[in-house]
Amino acid sequence: MKASKTCTAIYPGSFDPVTFGHIDIIKTASKMFAKIFVAIASNTNKEPLFEAQVRLKFLQSAVRSLPNVEVELFGGLIVDYARKKSAQAMIRGIRAVSDFDYEFQMALANRKLEPEINTVFIMPSEEHFYLSSKLIKEIAQFGGDVSRFVPPNVARGLREIITK
Ligand code: PNS
Repeated sequence: MKASKTCTAIYPGSFDPVTFGHIDIIKTASKMFAKIFVAIASNTNKEPLFEAQVRLKFLQSAVRSLPNVEVELFGGLIVDYARKKSAQAMIRGIRAVSDFDYEFQMALANRKLEPEINTVFIMPSEEHFYLSSKLIKEIAQFGGDVSRFVPPNVARGLREIITK
């Protein structure tokens, strides 16, 4: 499938919390697709640090300047959400080889469930290559400065939730 400015894409994830790496990917995708729905999983297997509504607020403020990007919560299967949005593509960020196994498995399973929706992998810029929500939570937990990795409201949110 050729990415095109007429296509709609979804960008699903836990976003617990959103990082500059995610925002980088959203910005790239917003230039490739007509419309992007950033879809925050409200029912992941992982126990999230931030409630879904808080993750939603963080992302909404991060994409405020991008008119073709909308952020929503979703539950259930991601392919069902993609169908509901009439999306042709599913975006996933890919950084290191270590991401590949899980991402490849998920992309193939989703393609079996819905052959019309293709996964498109986007690499973040080198500047954000090493970033992950997990790493950021760990840095924040031990009192490290995360202001270079996440927007100011997220850094504040991390400080608050961790010192609670
Ligand atoms: O940011 P994450 O945690 O890697 O995102 C994973 C996510 C939420 C995209 C994935 O777990 C998902 O799609 N969950 C919804 C349920 C579903 O459709 N599972 C089958 C995927 S093959």
